[in-house]
Amino acid sequence: MQFFIDTADISAIKKANDMGLVNGVTTNPTLIKKAGRDHEATIREISELISGPVSVETLSEDAEGMLKEAKTYLKWGKNIVIKVIMSPEGMKAVRELSSQGHKTNVTLCFSPLQALIAAKAGATYISPFVGRLDDISHYGMELISQIRDIYDNYEFDTQILVASVRSPIHLLDAATIGADVATVPPATLMQIFNHPLTESGIKAFLEDAKAWQK
Ligand code: E4P
Repeated sequence: MQFFIDTADISAIKKANDMGLVNGVTTNPTLIKKAGRDHEATIREISELISGPVSVETLSEDAEGMLKEAKTYLKWGKNIVIKVIMSPEGMKAVRELSSQGHKTNVTLCFSPLQALIAAKAGATYISPFVGRLDDISHYGMELISQIRDIYDNYEFDTQILVASVRSPIHLLDAATIGADVATVPPATLMQIFNHPLTESGIKAFLEDAKAWQK
């Protein structure tokens, strides 16, 4: 399973990238707002830093507007993926972009049939939001299993990009189910390192090394 990093914070991306843990980056309007910098400058910087796919979200609600935005975004880097909302107009835009050979990421997916529609439109990635489903007492991870089954049944190439990840358990479940990618907030990525036995083991080794170190 590939790890994308779910942030527009350049220093967090650099930190995770230095550990070899960034296969790509996802952004959305909220993450850009949080980063507090110019959209274009931020995406250009991320795109130079990371060789993998960088998702940039369109803001229009009609296909024509989405395609116009996509044209601009594609100039910001060689690895730009156009993020499009799950809607009838969004699927029109995805069909057109994919016929032009551009990569797309369909966002705000909350049902298996939405994922089926996105795959039929030719999306490169589908982003099911597991955390937001959990928030309203639905089992978000069940959606990932259902999409995995549907895509395998019909041999769709669309990659399952697990989004709205809130904990390492989401990552474990996503990897167990066979999701292609999970996009991870920087803090959740760092949580993977935490284990009391790792911490006590490091402490004990360092303590024992003192006995023979000069
Ligand atoms: C990424 O592509 C999504 O926009 C993001 O994971 C959403 O996460 P949130 O539900 O925590 O806002």
